[in-house]
Amino acid sequence: MCGIVGYVGDKDAVPILFEALQRLEYRGYDSAGVAVLGRGGVEIHKRAGRVDALVSTAPKHLRGNVGIGHTRWATHGEPTDLNAHPHVDTAGSIAVVHNGIIENASELRATVLADVVFTSQTDTEVLAHLIAAQPQPELEEAVRAALLLVEGAYGLAVVSLRHPDRIVAARNGSPVLLGIGNGEHFVASDASALVRHTDQVVYLDDREMAVLEADGLRTFTLDAEQTEKRPTTAPVSKTAYNKAGHADYMHKEICEQPAAVERALSGRIDRRFATSRLGGIDLLPRDILALRRIKVLGCGSAYYAGLVGAHLIESLTRIPADAETASEFRYRNPVIGADTLYIAISQSGETFDTLAAVQEIKRKGGRVLGVVNTPGSTIARECEAGIYLHAGPEVSVTSTKTFTSTAVVMALFALHLGRVRDVGPADGGRLLQALAALPEQIREILDGEGSVADTAKTLAAASSTFYIGRVRGYHVAREGAQKLKEISYVHAEAYPAAELKHGPLALVSSETPTVVIAPSDDLWDKNMGSIAEIRARNGPVVAVTDSPIPIPGISATIRVPQTEPELQPILLAIPLQLLAYHAALSLGRDIDKPRNLAKSVTVE
Ligand code: G6P
Repeated sequence: MCGIVGYVGDKDAVPILFEALQRLEYRGYDSAGVAVLGRGGVEIHKRAGRVDALVSTAPKHLRGNVGIGHTRWATHGEPTDLNAHPHVDTAGSIAVVHNGIIENASELRATVLADVVFTSQTDTEVLAHLIAAQPQPELEEAVRAALLLVEGAYGLAVVSLRHPDRIVAARNGSPVLLGIGNGEHFVASDASALVRHTDQVVYLDDREMAVLEADGLRTFTLDAEQTEKRPTTAPVSKTAYNKAGHADYMHKEICEQPAAVERALSGRIDRRFATSRLGGIDLLPRDILALRRIKVLGCGSAYYAGLVGAHLIESLTRIPADAETASEFRYRNPVIGADTLYIAISQSGETFDTLAAVQEIKRKGGRVLGVVNTPGSTIARECEAGIYLHAGPEVSVTSTKTFTSTAVVMALFALHLGRVRDVGPADGGRLLQALAALPEQIREILDGEGSVADTAKTLAAASSTFYIGRVRGYHVAREGAQKLKEISYVHAEAYPAAELKHGPLALVSSETPTVVIAPSDDLWDKNMGSIAEIRARNGPVVAVTDSPIPIPGISATIRVPQTEPELQPILLAIPLQLLAYHAALSLGRDIDKPRNLAKSVTVE
């Protein structure tokens, strides 16, 4: 989603901003732009489309030592050149880049800014005019006064011709961090943007502002109280941001899964007591015994991984557990139970709906544990306790290695709870052994990529597909369907297998392939029944299974190694990533940046 960068120092800001914007591309965007304080005043260069096009069309005279940049993911107004950020005031002397949504933008346009002629449809342009309208001579004071009139979420950076030595940044609900260099300072919405320059960062808190100059920075609250911030080292590795010989990041991240699972397990296995050791969860055995319910929350693939995790928890602990999309949860005035444990799952740790759900639970006195990939992210900091995935940065918009790592971490957590409750040491040991075998088994699945790529052609040729499964197989089907539709744009719908005959069977024909998740469990016969129903209507079937038993009359069978039944979803989901990947590849899609989607959804 939208990204912010800014530079103040003695170098030319333009190439620094361009390079940082390229690093933010993975978040998803549809237009981009920069503003620099140049010889001719505040110079703006912005346009709809990719950063590459922005770079190649940059005018030669675009130079300056102070500048801000932005990648925009349209919310208010279409992705046009005019709606791209930065936005300026009428005099063209103040430029603003902004993430988030100003909720009272229309009201401000109609009242305080009634005389202003707007050039864009964005809520951000309101900020530029509002800052310009403040009487305070110092930029930071004018920004602060303007922000006191604003309702909504923002992360922003502002430059002004009257103060050509500084950037003012502010945060409320949308991440902003400050990068500390040698005689130079940076601002960014995501530490990955600064990877070439510094790993020393300061994270702004909500309702906090900063003034950055070449040789210093200061922070204070919206109420003008100075704050003391200590720099921390951003957990960003340089290697995460190159494709290491792969055609795209998605392929690289699919292939990283054995290593990611090894990292998720590393140091967390306690063989002596046949359980897992999770340092950050802050739950005493007594607390675990008192739990009556577990509710898992997330969005997109984090939600699907949550479904897998909730099922694991319920089957191992017999504590009722379920997963719900964070957005629905926060708006339905949920009852927060004192004996319920809430788990928020998020790769980025910045998803607005998940964060808002966490805040709502905390406000009502509930206890929330974070399962997060990005250290230092807002959700990680908001949750009082948690478990990190340690999957490393995920760059491709579609989630692969973090889905798998989340499922593994949830299995470790379920085992931990289970061993306090009814799971005996023998069962605990059985699961630990199976967990330890996963990396090698995932490698084995990845070795079969060639034949999965062939099978993917069946899906790529279709205009509509079904994914079906039962119980834990259904959760896998949902994640598989999500993957296919988001990157190949082939319509994919997941259904519980038994529900097929209650509606979707009407659409099954030789034109609509169905991917059947058929683990070798007690529901095998039922799944074979569903396959027979589809075949009787000439529907092509691709089965994904760990069973060696041949399934006659179907288009293809993709086999995964056998594991303990509880962990089957983890292995069964991997060929579905490859199916979606190869379907998208054969259709020539932009794999890492699917249309309309963003990696990190920081607005509602
Ligand atoms: C977006 C991404 C998905 C991701 C979801 C949740 O929709 O495109 O891949 O699963 O957000 O993101 P999170 O960072 O909270 O896991």
